[in-house]
Amino acid sequence: MKVLGIESSCDECAAAIVEDGREVLSNIIATQIPFHAPFNGVVPEIASRKHTEWIYGVVKEALDRASLEPQDVAAVAVANRPGLLGSLLVGLSFAKAFAWARDIPFIAVDHMIAHLYASQLAGETAAYPFLGLLVSGGHSIICRADAFDTITVLGTTIDDAAGEAFDKVAKHYGFGYPGGAVIDRMAQNGDSEAFRFPMPRLQEKARLHNDENRHRYDVSYSGLKNAVINQLDQFRIKSGEIKPEDIAASFQKTAVEILLRALCNAAEDTGLGTIVAGGGVAANSYLRKRLAEYQNLRCIFPPAEFCGDNGAMIAGIGYHYLARGDRSPMNITASARVEGFKKKYP
Ligand code: KG4
Ligand code: ZN
Repeated sequence: MKVLGIESSCDECAAAIVEDGREVLSNIIATQIPFHAPFNGVVPEIASRKHTEWIYGVVKEALDRASLEPQDVAAVAVANRPGLLGSLLVGLSFAKAFAWARDIPFIAVDHMIAHLYASQLAGETAAYPFLGLLVSGGHSIICRADAFDTITVLGTTIDDAAGEAFDKVAKHYGFGYPGGAVIDRMAQNGDSEAFRFPMPRLQEKARLHNDENRHRYDVSYSGLKNAVINQLDQFRIKSGEIKPEDIAASFQKTAVEILLRALCNAAEDTGLGTIVAGGGVAANSYLRKRLAEYQNLRCIFPPAEFCGDNGAMIAGIGYHYLARGDRSPMNITASARVEGFKKKYP
């Protein structure tokens, strides 16, 4: 079954054709980064306008690259949550129109659940159950996956998302946008021991709630972000210039250690030894290197092209819903929030 996957939740206008949930026939990603870069962040109004202008061309290109006509597509999958509402609505409306015009099945899927599926599109796959590490610009989720659609959140961020911290630090120091890839690159030439930033004191927070286990799988980034920005600014005022690469490397090291601490707790408590990563931050080279060092853990990362937002992961997971007969109603709408995950502390 050849599924058209459409993704427009943020600043990538993307479409792909995937056969039987795994074989990627085309994967078109039109990035809006140059349009948002002058503002050092995604401007929602610009994002939805660009999606409106580009969506037809992007879907057409996905069909052309796969040497297919619209009638060759068996079903359409689209991300309808979470993300920027105006942006999501463009992809969702286009997907509905395509499915309605061709009279083929249509399914709306959760963008974060699709990120977790992305690694299955290439290379080695993981058998369920496993631990998921979902790290993007808007979310940081550590979860247990028992099936492609049965995912229990174990931990989240209690403030900023991991990618958001990279973006905010980069924005403050004028490193560039989006910050994650830039900091990753800069850190290669920096000293990660140049500055020691504090780890979040989540255990103390947990004790305040008389629940030692409350934040064992959670992460927090606002303290790190503030330390990197405020401490270094004061240091700079007192002692002169500091090497931007050292800021990047020291920040990145702590940002990754925060994820590793929560992940290791989750692996220890659940006994699950396989970790599947997804989302833009999963492209981070230091995170990949550090996780590979754990002998007792098997870590599976999607190839870089499937880490960030893409239509292939939407088409891929969409296939599994469609294959078992799931369909979305034509009146389904978009949502800014993550849905479809089982909650933590059930
Ligand atoms: O999954 P994604 O493309 O979009 C969202 O769903 O948010 O993730 C984008 C995020 C941005 O915050 C970006 O800075 C971050 O992923 N990112 C990275 C890297 N590449 C992208 N963060 C750390 N290291 C990277 N190499
Ligand atoms: Zn994403």
